[in-house]
Amino acid sequence: MDRKEFIRLLGIGTLGVVALNQLGCSKADQQPRIDFYIDTTDPLYFSLLNTGGYVYVNGLIIFKGIDLNYYALSQYCTHQGCDVTYQVAFNELICPCHGSQYDINGQVTMGPAIAPLYQYVTEVVSGTLIHVFTP
Ligand code: FES
Repeated sequence: MDRKEFIRLLGIGTLGVVALNQLGCSKADQQPRIDFYIDTTDPLYFSLLNTGGYVYVNGLIIFKGIDLNYYALSQYCTHQGCDVTYQVAFNELICPCHGSQYDINGQVTMGPAIAPLYQYVTEVVSGTLIHVFTP
């Protein structure tokens, strides 16, 4: 799959992402290398202003945890690929399909999933921009 096709599949450009600087595959873990910014002043991302709020962007779930930090992980459950949700009451990611649960760093706390969710780095820059990137 070439870069253009990958970007088209991810829907990048229609989600309000400010920039996508790098895209490729890490040889170490085969996770896509991600590097983009989310502008929380964009109405698409207003939910991130609230503790427990989350959005899906480019295959990632991005949420504001109870510690007020932002987290970004693969949105796809490692069991069979359903979209996980962030449940602020439990401070965990939960898969609605078969009940797998993950901690906020993507580690499995309850199966049937076995493998963790891949975690990306988030960094708040200039107050309203969240930089999301591969570690
Ligand atoms: Fe998530 Fe089965 S797809 S638990």
